This record gives sequence, C-alpha cells and structure tokens, in this order.
Amino acid sequence: MTPEQLVQLALEARRRAYAPYSNYFVGAAVLADDGTIYPGCNVENAAYPSTICAERVALTSAVANGKRCFSAIAVATSNGGTPCGSCRQVMAELGLDMAVYIADEHGNFRTTTVRELLPEYFGPEHLPA
Ligand code: THU
Repeated sequence: MTPEQLVQLALEARRRAYAPYSNYFVGAAVLADDGTIYPGCNVENAAYPSTICAERVALTSAVANGKRCFSAIAVATSNGGTPCGSCRQVMAELGLDMAVYIADEHGNFRTTTVRELLPEYFGPEHLPA
C-alpha cells in the first residue's frame, strides 16, 4: 500500500461523509500493521457536538475490528486541512509514529507524523499507577 493509494482510499471515504451542517467533507483511511485498511468519514449531527470526525471513525472502527497497531493514516479534505486536536490525541494513543498523509481534494498531500502533530502529548505515562 503506497501513500498515494491510502490517500485515494481517504478520498473515496470522503465521498460518504455526512456533513449537511458544515459542508466540510472529510475522509480518512488508516493502515493497520497487518495491511488491513479501515475507512472513515465525518458524521455530523443536528446536536452539533455529537459530530464525529473522519479520523476517529476510521481508528475506532479499526480497533473494533481487533487492530491495535497502525502504520499510517491518510486524511482528505477540500483544502488539505489538518487533523483537529481531538483526533491528534486519539492518534497519539494508538500510534505516535504513524505516518499522517494530509491531502486535498485533488490528492495532493504532505507527509508528517503524529509525534510532529502533537508534541508534548498527554499519554498513559502521565496517569498515576
Ligand atoms: N472534521 C473532521 O472530520 N476531522 C478533523 O480533523 C477536523 C474536522 C470534521 C468535523 C465536522 O464535521 C467538520 O469537519 C467541520 O468541522
């Protein structure tokens, strides 16, 4: 699975986004270490805070399917917007060294990592034993 292919899967997932309130359509695709891929899209709600982001849909779906180790996630928006703070925190929990491909609607993307996106993250080591 190349970064370009993962970005294409995020773009495909983006077409299924349910975003009638913001009209900001987001798709994601996460690559587990075993090569399996889980898509996600944002799913909005009339009760706005009940909205869930594409990245967290993809990651929670992967976890629900028994995956714990991830090597990359692609996120696609109209304009190459970066993952929100909540999604960065969830990504940090599941894979600090995951590659993150941030794509626009044309498939142009840049590459970063979760660690770069969320330095000084709050992690399990901060919880008292
Ligand atoms: N959104 C995502 O899906 N991922 C992000 O990382 C940023 C924001 C969604 C949430 C909402 O449906 C829309 O984009 C506008 O905030």
